Amino acid sequence: MGEKFLIQGRKPLSGEIKVKGAKNAALKVFIASLLTDKEWQIYNVPEIKDIFQEIEILKDLGLKIEKEKKGVYKVRAKEIKKTELDSSLSQKIRASIMITGPLLARFGEAKLSYPGGCLIGKRPIDLFLEGLAALGAELKGDKNTIHLTTKGLKGNVFVFPQISVTATECLIMAAALAKGKTVLKNAAMEPEVVSLVDFLNSCGAQIKGAGTPNIEIKGVKKLRGGRYFTIPDRIEAGTFAALAAASKSKVKIRDCEPLHLEVFLKILKKIGVELERGRNYILVRQSKALRSVKVVTHEYPGLPTDLQPPLTILLTQAKGLSLIRETVFEGRLFYTDILNQMGADIIMCDPHRIVIQGPSRLYGRRIISPDIRAGISLVIAALIAQGKSTIENIEQIDRGYEKIEQRLQKIGADIKRVKN
Ligand code: EPU
Repeated sequence: MGEKFLIQGRKPLSGEIKVKGAKNAALKVFIASLLTDKEWQIYNVPEIKDIFQEIEILKDLGLKIEKEKKGVYKVRAKEIKKTELDSSLSQKIRASIMITGPLLARFGEAKLSYPGGCLIGKRPIDLFLEGLAALGAELKGDKNTIHLTTKGLKGNVFVFPQISVTATECLIMAAALAKGKTVLKNAAMEPEVVSLVDFLNSCGAQIKGAGTPNIEIKGVKKLRGGRYFTIPDRIEAGTFAALAAASKSKVKIRDCEPLHLEVFLKILKKIGVELERGRNYILVRQSKALRSVKVVTHEYPGLPTDLQPPLTILLTQAKGLSLIRETVFEGRLFYTDILNQMGADIIMCDPHRIVIQGPSRLYGRRIISPDIRAGISLVIAALIAQGKSTIENIEQIDRGYEKIEQRLQKIGADIKRVKN
């Protein structure tokens, strides 16, 4: 079943690799297109599984979505057939919970099954439900179904007890068409949130404060058509930088936004990685001595949790004891077990903390990819390991990284995709 990667490790890497559009930015703009009956064009869309699955969910609701050419889509939600999400489709991607925001705002109703569990933690949805209720949504449904209705959303003040990226985006979309003013406090500040807001404003929304913890939204009656250019994927850029550093290679990472990676790049420097950054590139030079660090994942602008796994691989190659504290998701360190089977020396102190003793030589082996970010990091581990590895369950990696093996081959990696 499926496909797998065959990797021969320790091949010298060099050259340039381009970063694609951000999965977690493009996904939201497709969803937000439900807010208007006008056409949107979305550019620089990564050709990845999560996007394809979301397009399926939206088409099932009745949206017209056409691919004009590679990475360019036309989306229009002129008429929709229903406000209930197909449960088998929507359970595949958690981001589908966000669709409740624009559906309620424009059509007054949204129905879907509870999103399934996830390997990186429980991933509750209470913040979405509380936030939408604050804007005037009524929650019905039963233990399997979320059924939200409203006679019209009204602006309100909502304080997030905990920072959530997708819940912030969902409430922004809902409030964009609500009556009156909404204030979101303790909102997420991620570049993907800012990019969504900038685009909504270009279509006539009135939103201030994105990129700060306080976002003010003045509801408007309608949004216009528009063109959105997806921002570069900061997680992909950071992952490539970690790969270059861990493999002690000189690689130029192009078409990225270094300003979205300030803390991660600072940590790389502390580790001893030699970097040069330009307006839209990061050049990682062949690193010499790598040093251990103590780091904590944090909401933006802190160290992104999505870059914790690639950083862990890098730290297996750094001299001394490193400590990583994962504060965002509780299940996001379990893949380190697989790294230990490859020869790393990692102790899990509790589900939120690991200690890495480096440097360790890694050895190739058979690996089953647990989730998207751990999956790509195990590709890095296999690329720096001695010998051959096979990586199975690569559908997880395909969720977020477009044709990754072809792009890695271009910088010299020995990685092949084969049928299982
Ligand atoms: N949380 C709640 N209740 C909620 C929502 C979230 O308790 O209703 C908790 C979560 O359990 C977690 C914390 O809040 O402990 C933060 O999670 P957040 O809601 O910010 O995560 P998310 O919005 O579901 C997005 C990205 C993730 C990324 C996180 C953190 C998208 C589609 N997903 O998820 O990306 O890790 O923010 O930056 O934007 C990935 O791309 O691989 C990925 C997991």
